Amino acid sequence: MQVTVFHDERILARTLAAHIASALTAKPDLVLGLPTGRTPIRLYHQLGAMHAKGQVDFSRATTFNLDEFLGIPPGHPGSYRAFMQEHLFSRINIPAERINVLNGAATDPRAECARYESAIAAAGGIDVQILGIGTNGHIGFNEPARELVGATHRVELKTSTRRSNAALFGGDANAVPREALSMGMATILKGRRIVMIATGKSKAGCIERVVNGSITTKLPASFLQLHRDVELVLDEAAAAAISAAPPAGAKALIHEDSKHSN
Ligand code: GLP
Repeated sequence: MQVTVFHDERILARTLAAHIASALTAKPDLVLGLPTGRTPIRLYHQLGAMHAKGQVDFSRATTFNLDEFLGIPPGHPGSYRAFMQEHLFSRINIPAERINVLNGAATDPRAECARYESAIAAAGGIDVQILGIGTNGHIGFNEPARELVGATHRVELKTSTRRSNAALFGGDANAVPREALSMGMATILKGRRIVMIATGKSKAGCIERVVNGSITTKLPASFLQLHRDVELVLDEAAAAAISAAPPAGAKALIHEDSKHSN
């Protein structure tokens, strides 16, 4: 597990966006797995800014989002589809037909999950899977549980997760759907390269457990330890609990100097 620590969120987003642009230059038909949440917003806006300057081209790329709320249509303002449109897709030149988000309004959620798995396979699998992390260690909507599910599936959301998604529903946690569809752990781990972003001090505790703890279904992100090409991209606040004692086996712990952050 490679751990890279940046001075702040801004330099983190700029660096990661530049890496994605390079990956797209090397492989224009790159297949990207994408998260929602507050964490990737700067990255998405940076990619939009780079696109406006002709520095990144998504014309042949394909994207697959990790998850979507169940029971709301793609046009609902609280949907992850709407979030992605606002923060990324409207800012770049990706063709609409190569944007993939689970349909939360599907009449047969099980069939929708199977369709999604097939679509990922038909696209050749995910080249770069970008992830955020919930404060309880969830990735996508794979919540801590006694058992995790491998494939894309229907999931019941924890109260804490509904609370942290309340902003999308006018601040009302009760308005957040109780269920969602999510890529499963195996779907995520099949990504050829995984990049997890975490920022802010609220993530420091679970990041420390992801890096140094045991692999447990109680902390779904701990399963990333099993992947051969995973990088945790952190700001200093999220890295606070591991900075004092750099993780065993970490390939790099890089502190970017703040003077590069503009
Ligand atoms: C949601 C998403 C996750 C995301 C998490 C973290 O629950 N389903 O994919 O990683 O939020 O959100 P934030 O970045 O706002 O902390």
